[in-house]
This record gives sequence, structure tokens and C-alpha cells, in this order.
Amino acid sequence: MEAMSTNETTAKNDMMQHHRITKAVIPAAGMGTRFLPVTKSIPKEMLPIIDKPVLQFVVEEAIASGIKDILIITGRGKQAIENHFDFNPELEYFLERSGKETLIEHVRALAEKCQFFYVRQNEPLGLGDAIKHAQPHVGNEPFAVLLGDTIIEPHVNNPPGLQQLIDIYQQKQASVVSVHRVPDDWIQRYGIVEGKAESEVSPDLLRLHRLIEKPQPPATSSNLAIAGRYILTPAIFDCLARVESGFGNELQLTDAMNLLVQKEAVYAFAWQAKRYDIGDSVEYTKCFIEYALRRPETAQIVREHMQQLLNESPEVV
Ligand code: UTP
Repeated sequence: MEAMSTNETTAKNDMMQHHRITKAVIPAAGMGTRFLPVTKSIPKEMLPIIDKPVLQFVVEEAIASGIKDILIITGRGKQAIENHFDFNPELEYFLERSGKETLIEHVRALAEKCQFFYVRQNEPLGLGDAIKHAQPHVGNEPFAVLLGDTIIEPHVNNPPGLQQLIDIYQQKQASVVSVHRVPDDWIQRYGIVEGKAESEVSPDLLRLHRLIEKPQPPATSSNLAIAGRYILTPAIFDCLARVESGFGNELQLTDAMNLLVQKEAVYAFAWQAKRYDIGDSVEYTKCFIEYALRRPETAQIVREHMQQLLNESPEVV
């Protein structure tokens, strides 16, 4: 066999190194049972944080991380999602006619900034099953996954959450998932990872050897919980085809990733970002309050109102 020239080898390496992540998959087809009754008619991903739906935060994070192609996995009763990201010329015309032009930029579609695609998951058979539906769209490329019900707030001055994972993918050319440290009594609520830091220089980057979905004690001593953002190589589809239903009788992405670690390197990055799992009503409330306290238009009044409530009747509030 003919040996490759130095130039050819460099070109091949460059091609590998510059395999960019351009596609993101956002699963948003879950039933949202923890948030009934509102989720009977409103997708939990469309619940507002003041005036912006949760899913818009997720989409904006993807766009800010350089994603140009977003596939949203939807299901029955989720039409509001497609409408929200679509153009709405009638509304824009109405705003223009009624002298409210300044509001147009708030409703102008993010569709100008990236392309949206939709696929329906006929039955909510689990996150793993939702990701399976992305295969025809992503093909043989690595891709990003952002859970549609999870808002990530990066640590001050850090890049958007997904961008941080993309940077690691560029270095490692391997799947990577974000994790955060959770209190012991939260371990049973999340996918948990076990791994080892490869170097003392980056103790927060672990090479994984096992992942377990919602482990019951004492199944693991790890408290590193998957935080809603992933970069996956296409080898995940093979693994998804091989796993069977797991926790909650759902096809679990964590179980497929547990097969993936046996085939190729998979990393976890224990980031500093805050995670809001808005499918949980307490987390949703915390997120709403934090944004209200941060937004210039609402911050002062909400702070004063909360202080007044606490002073008036601390035992009730
Ligand atoms: P969750 O497990 O938090 O969503 O999935 P859920 O099943 O709707 O929640 P509960 O327990 O009933 O309250 C995380 C993300 O994956 C999506 C969800 O829409 C959510 O954005 N998902 C989940 C799917 O797209 N399909 C599924 O079958 C399950």
C-alpha cells in the first residue's frame, strides 16, 4: 500500500479536527406528567419564564453556540412549538399598523437565524426513543442534544453551555456530556455517570466507564448527574438499537451511552453552569423568580414585593 504524504496526512487530520457540530436535536415530546394539569394542553417546553417560553432559551443557546440546523422532536399536542418558531406575518402587520413596531423584533422568528426541522415521536417511549427519531436527519455526523425542558445558565463570563461541550468535542473528537454535582437525595432523579479524570490539569473532564439511569442506592457512589446537554457521535444509534426499555419502562439514552463507553471514548464535563429542570415545578418556580430578579424591567419591583411579603407574614410565605 502506498504511504500517505505528509501533506495528505495533515489534510486528513485537519478534516478530522474540523468536523464541526452544526446540527442540534431538541427532544420535546415528553408528556410532562410532573407538571399536570397544565401540560394536558400546553407543552411544558412552552411554559413561560416571564414572557419567553423555556424552549426559546434552549434554541437561543444552540444558535449562540453556532448551530444552524435544529431538529425538534415533537408529539401529539405540541403544535404550539412549531407555531412559536414560525414566521407570523399577520401579527407583524398588526403590530406595524397599531404603532407597536418596537415589539416586532420580539416576535420576529428565530427562523431567520437557523433552519428548523420537526419529527414526531408517535408515542413518548423515552428519551432514547426520541433520539432514535433523529437518525435520518443527522445521518453519519456527530450532533448536539439539548433537552427541551432544561435551561442552562453558564457561569459568569463563560460561553453558552452547549458551546463549552462543542469546544471539548473539538479537542477529543469523542462524545461528551455535561454533568453537575447533586446532593445525595437527588441521585435517584437523574442519569448518573462514573468516570475518572484523565489528567490533573483538567480534573473536571472525566473519561466515563459507566452510566446508570436513576440509580437506587447503593448502586453508585457517584453524584455526577447528566445536565441536559450532550454531543454524541453517530455510533449512539447502534447502541440505541441494542438497548431495551429500562427505568420507567422507557428507552433510556443513558443505557445506550452505557454501551457506547464500551465501544469508544465518552467524556463528561463537570461544568460550573446552573441547570434548571423546568419539568419540575419547584425548579421552574426558582428559575422564574431568578429571571424576574435579574431582568431590569422587573428586578426592583419584584424584589420589593418579595421583601414586603416576607415581612408581612413570614410564616405563610
Ligand atoms: P423528561 O423525562 O424530563 O420528560 O425528558 P417527561 O417524560 O415529559 O417528564 P415527566 O416525568 O412525565 O414529567 C426530558 C426531555 O426529553 C423529552 C421531554 O419532552 C423533555 O424535554 N422526551 C422525553 C421526549 O422527547 N420523548 C420522550 O419519550 C420522553
